[in-house]
Amino acid sequence: MVELLPLSNIEPQAVEDLLDLAFGTDRFGRTAYRIRAGVDAVPALSFAAVEDDVLIGTIQCWPVAHRAADGTATPLVMVGPVAVRPDVQRGGHGRALMARMLDAAETGADSALMMIGDPEYYGRFFGFDAGMTGAWDLPGPFERRRLLARAVNGHGLPTSAGMIGPR
Ligand SMILES: CC(C)(COP(=O)(O)OP(=O)(O)OC[C@H]1O[C@@H](n2cnc3c(N)ncnc32)[C@H](O)[C@@H]1OP(=O)(O)O)[C@@H](O)C(=O)NCCC(=O)NCCS
Repeated sequence: MVELLPLSNIEPQAVEDLLDLAFGTDRFGRTAYRIRAGVDAVPALSFAAVEDDVLIGTIQCWPVAHRAADGTATPLVMVGPVAVRPDVQRGGHGRALMARMLDAAETGADSALMMIGDPEYYGRFFGFDAGMTGAWDLPGPFERRRLLARAVNGHGLPTSAGMIGPR
């Protein structure tokens, strides 16, 4: 049986080992890591999928912000990584983790959500799209079509030009 638990219940090294399996050990150079450099994950929006006491999936969310040229900062929550152990991918665990996080975000998120991900997955199932992010910039290379966002819990999205970085 698969249980969804707060990620804070899981030993941090087990989470790192799973992320290495899903993304490779060179993952630290990714733009997503620069966006959230130095901040801690949001405990209420970060979950683990555990099957028979073994970690098989994780989702983490991070406090970030959109900063416009005039200095205006709009808080955002960055979603991801979502990671499922390779041998059990395509079994619904990624969708279950995202659904659990969105359920918590609907009442608990302090700002709208953004992420770097495949619109074919995060748009199709979870309502993320790149429609509002066209003027946003990131501190590293990215594909514009994969810079996604979604309003949640009454929090809208900034549409002006701005850089996304740690909050
Ligand atoms: C992406 C990931 C989280 C999805 O989780 P999962 O448990 O494997 O997928 P699920 O079983 O929840 O969803 C499966 C459905 O999503 C589709 N899907 C999965 N990954 C997809 C992708 N990258 N693009 C488009 N569709 C995708 C599958 O085709 C399947 O659709 P179907 O039900 O119509 O057959 C997982 O495969 C993973 O960890 N991949 C490696 C790390 C990664 O790329 N993470 C995302 C970036 S943050």
